Amino acid sequence: MPEDHFGERVAARYDESSAEMFEPSVLDPTVDFLAELAGQGAALELGIGTGRVALPLSRRGIRVHGIDLSDAMVARLRAKPGAERIGVTIGDFATTRVDDRFTVAYLVFNTIMNLTSQDEQVACFQNVAAHLEPGGCFVIETGVPALQRLPPGETVRAFAVSPTHLGFDEFDVVNQGLISHHYTVEDGHLELHSLPFRYAWPAELDLMARLAGLRLRERWGDWRREPFTSDSENHVSVWEKPPNRDKA
Ligand SMILES: C[S@@+](CC[C@H](N)C(=O)[O-])C[C@H]1O[C@@H](n2cnc3c(N)ncnc32)[C@H](O)[C@@H]1O
Repeated sequence: MPEDHFGERVAARYDESSAEMFEPSVLDPTVDFLAELAGQGAALELGIGTGRVALPLSRRGIRVHGIDLSDAMVARLRAKPGAERIGVTIGDFATTRVDDRFTVAYLVFNTIMNLTSQDEQVACFQNVAAHLEPGGCFVIETGVPALQRLPPGETVRAFAVSPTHLGFDEFDVVNQGLISHHYTVEDGHLELHSLPFRYAWPAELDLMARLAGLRLRERWGDWRREPFTSDSENHVSVWEKPPNRDKA
């Protein structure tokens, strides 16, 4: 099992520290997008966390199941109204199997990058493909690696500077590695939380999808289907399992 970077201390502050991601202006288009793909079927969330997306999606009448390795994050989900309608399996979403089939699986908020090796990311696509109905879709929302903003020879870039939060990304460009260091003021104390990631270009994710028998269906700059361009800092990508794959 990979290391759990979302333990009790992170889970206790997750919703508050990600408050802007809970805004209706962010969540409504996310849920609209996923509900449309789910149709009459069920949805699988990899890294369900505290239920930021799963709960409003479930309120749309869609059956949602989640996988997460953090007991602490899932405990926060379980304490919220409506969580009783959502099944959760504790495990690594790169390998954990759920005994069900889904019309949509999704992995949002940069969480593909929590898998810190190429092998794990490839395994994740293969695991998702095994859970999808023919014609089902896998959706990833993640950042485009910000290497254009890293001056030659530098390895560290600030991404947050405020009186209560300093954030620095430390790049290892040889290994596509990234460690995000968060210095936050909590109850008058300075706390450090460092989180490792592996960044991947959209084209590499497309190749992982192909290895898993999926094909790119759509790529957007955001959940509102803004075009994906050379200036896009994020992408929302949809890969599809061919409708007749099981019959081939
Ligand atoms: C950034 S949070 C996102 C939570 C939720 N999807 C959201 O959008 O608010 C990442 C979540 O993924 C989980 N996670 C990270 N790596 C994982 C893995 N390999 N297997 C299962 N869960 C994982 C963490 O425990 C955490 O709950």
